[in-house]
Amino acid sequence: MRKEQILSKSPEETKAFGKRLAKTLHKGDILCLFGDLGSGKTTLIKGIAQGLGVNETKVNSPTFVLLNIYEGARTLYHFDLYRLEDLKGISSIGYDEFLYGNGVSVIEWADRLGEFLPDEYLKIEMKHKSSEERIIKISKKGN
Ligand SMILES: Nc1ncnc2c1ncn2[C@@H]1O[C@H](COP(=O)(O)OP(=O)(O)OP(=O)(O)O)[C@@H](O)[C@H]1O
Ligand SMILES: [Mg+2]
Repeated sequence: MRKEQILSKSPEETKAFGKRLAKTLHKGDILCLFGDLGSGKTTLIKGIAQGLGVNETKVNSPTFVLLNIYEGARTLYHFDLYRLEDLKGISSIGYDEFLYGNGVSVIEWADRLGEFLPDEYLKIEMKHKSSEERIIKISKKGN
């Protein structure tokens, strides 16, 4: 099982890491992001967007939107489940259809999925270490 941990010392480093990570992704890959408010999930996704040829300025944490779709060299499905109140909400956006489609999916607040967590995904855990430092831990779940 691939397992990796990095210490990022700035938002730029987190983005650069996301960009490198994106280069290793394939269609249908799912990244589940875990971590507190402000731990850098969206910042990492901006880097992933860059790596996928998507304009990173389009990537933010939408307040009332569960899913944003960004078209680039590869489609990026950006889920932010912070405000997901019950899991019926997830079926109403056709969660599965996107998840197993042609692009790459990244899911902020993936812990909200409970039993709907996919069988296989890349788990990304982000933690505050100091105001400018984040620990990013990656592991592969399933298979
Ligand atoms: N090393 C770092 N990596 C990432 N972000 C950092 C780092 N150091 C400081 N920051 C700051 O922390 C904040 C991270 O915000 P971001 O929106 O990426 O977090 P988030 O985990 O998506 O939060 P939310 O749960 O609210 O969606 C930004 O303001 C960013 O500038
Ligand atoms: Mg966010």
